[in-house]
Amino acid sequence: MDRIIITGGKPLKGRIPISGAKNAALTLLPCALLTDEPLTLRNLPRLADVDGFGHLLNQLGVSITVEGSKPDEFGRVMTLRASNIASTVAPYDIVRKMRASILVLGPLVARAGEATVSLPGGCAIGMRPVDLHLKALEALGAELEIAAGYVKAKAPPGGLRGGEIRFPIVSVGATENALMAAVLAKGTTVIENAAREPEITDLAKCLIAMGAKIDGLRTDTLTIEGVDELHGATYAVMPDRIEAGSYACAAMITGGSLELVGARKETMPSIFSGLQDAGAIIEDTASGIRVSADGGIKPLSLATAPFPAFPTDMQAQFMAMLSLANGTSLLTETIFENRYMHVPELNRMGADIEVRGRSAVVRGVEKLHGAPVMATDLRASMSLVLAGLAAEGQTEVNRVYHLDRGYERLEEKLQAVGADIERAGAG
Ligand code: UD1
Repeated sequence: MDRIIITGGKPLKGRIPISGAKNAALTLLPCALLTDEPLTLRNLPRLADVDGFGHLLNQLGVSITVEGSKPDEFGRVMTLRASNIASTVAPYDIVRKMRASILVLGPLVARAGEATVSLPGGCAIGMRPVDLHLKALEALGAELEIAAGYVKAKAPPGGLRGGEIRFPIVSVGATENALMAAVLAKGTTVIENAAREPEITDLAKCLIAMGAKIDGLRTDTLTIEGVDELHGATYAVMPDRIEAGSYACAAMITGGSLELVGARKETMPSIFSGLQDAGAIIEDTASGIRVSADGGIKPLSLATAPFPAFPTDMQAQFMAMLSLANGTSLLTETIFENRYMHVPELNRMGADIEVRGRSAVVRGVEKLHGAPVMATDLRASMSLVLAGLAAEGQTEVNRVYHLDRGYERLEEKLQAVGADIERAGAG
């Protein structure tokens, strides 16, 4: 299994191109199931999860052509066409590797009238149930049956019908499934307490480009007027705010300055205010945003919460950065119950972090030192890369496949701004 080897201590300087957003890509891809015309997605990141989703869609009968995949180019263009739905089953083998597979549920029931999707089960960061996805479909008239680890959903005769969905807690995935199902339902659907993450807005904009009628973009109430059919469209995936935020932390933790090319400030308000509070200088540039360290890192008190508050997907990277702050920080995780798996690994590199229930007390240390480390999830792996970039000596990050799920050509992008980082085969 590959490893990433980093020799830390070099301030990173230069430009990093920000790729298309993984989490937007994973909800735009299943939109192809909603029409028999071609959906062309531009700026798709080259990531293992995008390939995995393509594989699942293939099994459901979607044909996919890929352009712009020259090895020296970032991003890809994919044209997906579901002329016919060949299968309505998302099998366990695929779903267990990629939780986002649950996002085929809404589109399949809406277009084909039925779907059988393996239940994803828990994962490294928490239980992650899908009850809200299922309740949303029921509100649109679907009948559900759960047996042998699968959910089988069937639309009523005549297809899904509009309904009222009020989510008790904010869920990104459940909002996406509800939205993708409602666009083809008969009549009006209102989704209350909808997630407002920029990826939801990206999804709504793509669906509108395909002929859907959706009001309330960027708010927590989405109103959808169902249409009889959707048509093809071309849509460019938004830039990845979590990738951009991660590289902003790389600038700060190494005392450097990075221009995040293509990053969109309005999609990352709390990430930038957190960076600013930590002492970063943030400037708009012609092609993106520059984040520069200005001396030390100041401690912060932050809690994760749904957008526009601070994202759970940035918690681990901020923790790595704050492990070198001049003082004690307090991070509180309110979204997932077990998202501190990086703490013992960061502590092995010399950090001083103590988990107290849902919070972590991060006492800033003078320096980190390199060590062999491993992580259990994507963002935790990135926090170890960040720590390695700042640490004295060599860090070896194992289980690189986590990083390959979410960071397009990580080593290449970091090498280009002066990092000493390389991928090596099994040690
Ligand atoms: C998405 C993102 C993930 C991010 C998360 C929160 C994708 C592919 N993944 O995940 O990177 O960390 O949003 O911003 O876009 N919940 C329920 N029942 C449900 C659904 C969710 O109880 O049916 C709970 C979850 O366990 C969690 C909370 O709701 O505690 C929020 O999860 P949710 O927003 O649904 O996360 P995902 O869509 O899985």
